[in-house]
Amino acid sequence: MREIQDKYFRLAKREGKLARSYYKLQEINQRTKIIKEGSRVLDIGACPGSWLEYILENIGDKGVACALDLNVIAKKFKGVVDFRKMDVRELTPETFAESAKEFDVVVSDMAPKTSGIRLTDQARSLELCEIAAEYAFKVLAPKGAFVCKIFESPEVKPFREKLRPSFKTTRTIKPDASRDESMETYIICMGYGEEPEEKRARPDHEYRKTKGKRTRQY
Ligand SMILES: C[S@@+](CC[C@H](N)C(=O)[O-])C[C@H]1O[C@@H](n2cnc3c(N)ncnc32)[C@H](O)[C@@H]1O
Repeated sequence: MREIQDKYFRLAKREGKLARSYYKLQEINQRTKIIKEGSRVLDIGACPGSWLEYILENIGDKGVACALDLNVIAKKFKGVVDFRKMDVRELTPETFAESAKEFDVVVSDMAPKTSGIRLTDQARSLELCEIAAEYAFKVLAPKGAFVCKIFESPEVKPFREKLRPSFKTTRTIKPDASRDESMETYIICMGYGEEPEEKRARPDHEYRKTKGKRTRQY
């Protein structure tokens, strides 16, 4: 696996991307097609900006990119980004209203400052996801998509179950570019406001291996 991880690090250097994270969103989008030409995308926890790079490359001139982070993004992008330096807790539906009244896609790659105490870090990650999801419910357009990074814990399943009734499909993806030893995984919800597809009978612990991809589907 280390070979794959080195591959993404080298790829980012070779292709001039800000960080290997770029390839996580790339894989998520190649598999879900949620971000496309014209999409209005909100990127929560956007610093240093590699997801924004990917978003701007894919939404074209008619798309809208809004983003926020506790820290400022140093990179100057080719496309236009409505960026706010702020805590996700301060967001209101008006924050980005001038750029977009609603979004087709809300992504959160937020990660808490890790304490090294597993339970604490898991709880903090979950809290950030809950805040991001609550905000997504306020600003997502019908059929919109929500993506969030979450640290694996027994609380992930109940959280995902809370999201599930609001979306057509809800699944979990661990992209190849995500280190195996990392606790992170990504919840992908698609089809906001649509009837949820029937829950699939699949054991919770089982990652579905499809062409080498790591996916949980519920
Ligand atoms: C893993 S980084 C995101 C990487 C980014 N997606 C990229 O590809 O460049 C996680 C980010 O979450 C941000 N973050 C953590 N807690 C936050 C909060 N309460 N409000 C806003 N941003 C937060 C951190 O400042 C950090 O920049």
